[in-house]
Amino acid sequence: MSQLSLSWLGLGPLAASPWLLLLLLGASWLLARVLAWAYAFYDNCRRLRCFPEPPKRNWLLGHLGLVKTNEEGLQLIEKLGHYFRDIHLWWLGPFYPVLRLIHPKFIAPLLQAPATVAPKDRLFYNFMKPWLGDGLLLSAGDKWSHHRRLLTPAFHFEILKPYMKIFNKSADIMHDKWQRLASEGNTRLDMFEHISLMTLDSLQKCVFGFDSNCQENPSEYIAAILELSALVTKRSQQIFLHMDFLYQLTPDGRRFRRVCNLVHNFTDAVIQERRRTLISQGSHDFLKAKAKSKTLDFIDVLLLAKDEDGKKLSDEDIRAEADTFMFEGHDTTASGLSWALYNLARHPEYQERCRQEVQQLLGDREPKEIEWEDLAQLPFLTMCIKESLRLHPPVTVISRCCTQDIMLPDGRVIPKGNICVISIFGVHHNPSVWPDPEVYNPFRFDPEIPQKRSPLAYIPFSVGPRNCIGQTFAMAEMKVVLALTLLRFRVLPDYTEPRRKPELILRAEGGLWLRVQPLGTSTQ
Ligand code: HEM
Repeated sequence: MSQLSLSWLGLGPLAASPWLLLLLLGASWLLARVLAWAYAFYDNCRRLRCFPEPPKRNWLLGHLGLVKTNEEGLQLIEKLGHYFRDIHLWWLGPFYPVLRLIHPKFIAPLLQAPATVAPKDRLFYNFMKPWLGDGLLLSAGDKWSHHRRLLTPAFHFEILKPYMKIFNKSADIMHDKWQRLASEGNTRLDMFEHISLMTLDSLQKCVFGFDSNCQENPSEYIAAILELSALVTKRSQQIFLHMDFLYQLTPDGRRFRRVCNLVHNFTDAVIQERRRTLISQGSHDFLKAKAKSKTLDFIDVLLLAKDEDGKKLSDEDIRAEADTFMFEGHDTTASGLSWALYNLARHPEYQERCRQEVQQLLGDREPKEIEWEDLAQLPFLTMCIKESLRLHPPVTVISRCCTQDIMLPDGRVIPKGNICVISIFGVHHNPSVWPDPEVYNPFRFDPEIPQKRSPLAYIPFSVGPRNCIGQTFAMAEMKVVLALTLLRFRVLPDYTEPRRKPELILRAEGGLWLRVQPLGTSTQ
């Protein structure tokens, strides 16, 4: 083998080995990478210096663990909101900066930017991928924009209108259960438990046209969705288990896989069955039959959806979208409704005003059912829901990654590559936007009083290209369930104050307990 001479380096004959040369090259490459990273890091820190930082815990942890996911954590965020009113910097450890935004003016350039400029930050969401696949919530780029276009008609009011019957029926089932429990002396109820089952019941009927009777009898599929949501929440709090290969080694990781399979098998079976019907009947007769029953399930809309070139969604795509609706639609709406009932329990004067509004609207109509046209006739109830979504937003934070420099209205720039957390809770509790932010005051949303605040001051469903596609569905369901609940029950606070718990959605530690008193109006 010919030897290379490196004697000019003064390394002697030893260094002449090709292996050593390789090592030298490897080490130089590594050094170059480290230097490039160090320079990029230094440059990023220099550019981030214009953003204020709350005091760190220490140089190593930075702000990591400073805000806990409990009541004290939320109180600290409220307090910080008085000092840092627009944007500030957090350090997760010594090397990981995150910008937190809590002012409407500052979130606008991020949320209203095209989805490619400020895509979702994957760190937050990726561990839901095995369950939700490339559904709207998790997909990005061309796939997301193509699917968003295809799915938007699924939330058109003509599709949503027939779901009103389903919302009314699911609420009736829940109220029958409450009546029964109250007659047995159980008037203290965990709202999250009851309302989550009810929203899942509704969704299973709207998405798949499937009635599992899950509010009365245990359902394997519904139990699986609840378990997956709980496992996702647990994992999100164990930072080391965010790595897939580690998570898969744990009992929770293996359980997650098994339960995912169960959920996927259910969705696949419905898709196959519908495809067979569609093929045997032909799409024209299928639609005619559906028009007779007046309800087009989401899964039908997904099966029939076509783009301009006639391209349809694959079975895998349909499954991802249906599973996404089931996940994204149940907990969020249940949280919104539970906190709305809590706020009305604490403000009996507003509760009574809502009840009178519903009584006047329904008069002696039988059966007591809220119809689509009624939704616009409940202005005070709507104000109460909106104010509750402000004070207790179900989704408390969302995150974005900047793929290019983003200019803020005051001239400062968020450098490319940084992660931004948009605190919906922070915006809704920002004292420079909302006077007395901790006070529940539905009149902030009085349509008669012109509001001077920015449209981005209130963002429970986010805004911009990646806003919530299900917001009309959610508002309709919340209005129906709240109206019927107040018609049939008086809601009173529990003996102890709940402690808020911001997980994937805003919950209460140990459940959100309220007392309910039947008012003698039955569901019939
Ligand atoms: C009160 C109830 C709800 C609230 C507060 C809520 C809130 C949100 C928020 C804040 C986002 C943005 C997430 C992000 O940017 O990371 C979002 C996205 C989404 N929501 Fe909702 N949501 C609710 C109900 C629903 C319902 C009922 C459905 C479906 C039936 C739904 C389906 C979705 C989907 C598919 C996305 C992703 C949209 C996209 O990225 O294109 N949501 N929701």
